[in-house]
Amino acid sequence: MDGNGRWAKERWGRSRIFGHKNGVAAVRTITEACAEIGVKYLTLYAFSTENWGRPAAEVTALMNLLVSTIRKEVKQLNENKVRLHAIGDIESLPKQCYNELLEGMSATQHNQRLQLTLALSYSSRWEITQAMQQIAEKVAAGSIQTSDIDEQLINNHLATKDMPDPELLIRTSGELRISNYLLWQIAYTELYFTKKFWPDFKEEDLYEAIYHYQQRERRFGKLKSV
Ligand code: IPE
Ligand code: MG
Repeated sequence: MDGNGRWAKERWGRSRIFGHKNGVAAVRTITEACAEIGVKYLTLYAFSTENWGRPAAEVTALMNLLVSTIRKEVKQLNENKVRLHAIGDIESLPKQCYNELLEGMSATQHNQRLQLTLALSYSSRWEITQAMQQIAEKVAAGSIQTSDIDEQLINNHLATKDMPDPELLIRTSGELRISNYLLWQIAYTELYFTKKFWPDFKEEDLYEAIYHYQQRERRFGKLKSV
């Protein structure tokens, strides 16, 4: 989800925080659209490890927005049968955010229609580093051998261990990079970039992205099937 700040400045001459507030509205729209069309997993890059380096006022505003949004949306998530998850170093979030997040996850834990995961204080390099530390500890303790380390084992130590690899990755705002997101998991993911800023990304834009995805031929390194 990229382009909240530019959307606010360029379109409205308003503060970046105004952009983030409107970004939340897009999250609601896209989550509901995904639930409706039968998407099973939606993972949103909401706050990266690197975002901690933004001015304190913006970080605080984003954290407050997170708390108020979860509080406001839990009821609707339950109505739409959406289960909330988080990946990332969530213990580094301000206590109130962390608690609100745990509450939101627990209040929605029985929902099965759509698994909505927020990547918060997340970066792939952080995640892979964590996984390597856990695996190294197990080897050192003798509970696994070096030769037991395979792709499956690595998968099982990632924050996304209970999720399938993404089929489609969408980045808004015209930037053509991945920015430390799900690097291991997107090995064969189809990538889709749109110039639209995140607050302008609507249902139709989601359908368009999916339409493009459906035209792709996914070979996973193999040959075209006949
Ligand atoms: C939203 O867009 C992404 C978040 C970190 C919440 P940005 O805040 O990156 O907006 P731009 O890219 O500066 O326009
Ligand atoms: Mg940005």
